[in-house]
Amino acid sequence: MSNETTGGRREHWHRRVLEGRLGLFAILTTVVVSVGGLAEIVPMFSAKLGPEPLRGVTPYTPLEIAGRDIYIREGCYVCHSQMVRPMRSELLRYGEWSRAGEYAYDHPFLLGSRRIGPDLQRVGGKYPDAWHYEHLRDPRSTSPGSIMPKYGWLLERTIDPADVQASLRALAKVGVPYSEADIAGAPAQLARQGDSIVRNLAAMGIRTSRDREIVAVIAYLQRLGRDGKATLAAQRERDVAAVATSPTSAPAVEGGRR
Ligand code: HEC
Repeated sequence: MSNETTGGRREHWHRRVLEGRLGLFAILTTVVVSVGGLAEIVPMFSAKLGPEPLRGVTPYTPLEIAGRDIYIREGCYVCHSQMVRPMRSELLRYGEWSRAGEYAYDHPFLLGSRRIGPDLQRVGGKYPDAWHYEHLRDPRSTSPGSIMPKYGWLLERTIDPADVQASLRALAKVGVPYSEADIAGAPAQLARQGDSIVRNLAAMGIRTSRDREIVAVIAYLQRLGRDGKATLAAQRERDVAAVATSPTSAPAVEGGRR
């Protein structure tokens, strides 16, 4: 172009060789434009996705997976987060702050985006099974003034072992290490863990059966925050020691003195 307008006789090579050949130019443009796309897409398929599991964190049991599926279905994550932030107030209320490796087997993550109710990442073991049973049946019965809805239908509805097996199979596809034997053995494991919760509830005078949805939700809630506790405690000791000995942790004083 500049050659023409300034009186040059020859067309610029770019115009002659590339822009002049529409078909070729379209193909080359596509190639150049896709480089950016490839640079983003290829690593996504080749790299291992997600965090490495924290030491001590293991995949959920079949009953816990059933409970987690119900937790997702009922939208519990709309009101509850599963992430403790590294702030003093949160450590005092909930315990250890969350580490990425704790979510290694969470598909999808249930971090949540706001807290209408409290964070649940460390709720496992905080209450007996019977508390959760009563709380889900009628939150006001255990927590006066609670605005959490009642989930009475969890007491009636039952879980289907075939659905749980399908969930396990889907999770295995995205990298959770469930073997074929684990999946085949899921119904037996559901029964075993379900029975132990039913026994706990019976000891508190609550009668239910192991295939009820409420039993699965209790199993899931009681599992939250239980794995990797020793690793977290050790890590915290190391972090605290590192901060205590770090030269930048002392407050800086004007004039260069410390
Ligand atoms: C409308 C918001 C809302 C929804 C939806 C909701 N909750 Fe809650 N949840 C709360 C509030 C508020 C509290 C605090 C008062 C209480 O204990 O009931 C709470 C408390 C809890 C607690 C006790 C936490 C603690 O540390 O004391 C558990 C466990 C719990 N919810 C589980 C669930 C489960 C499971 C679901 C889904 C089946 C669910 N919640 C759905 C609002 C909600």
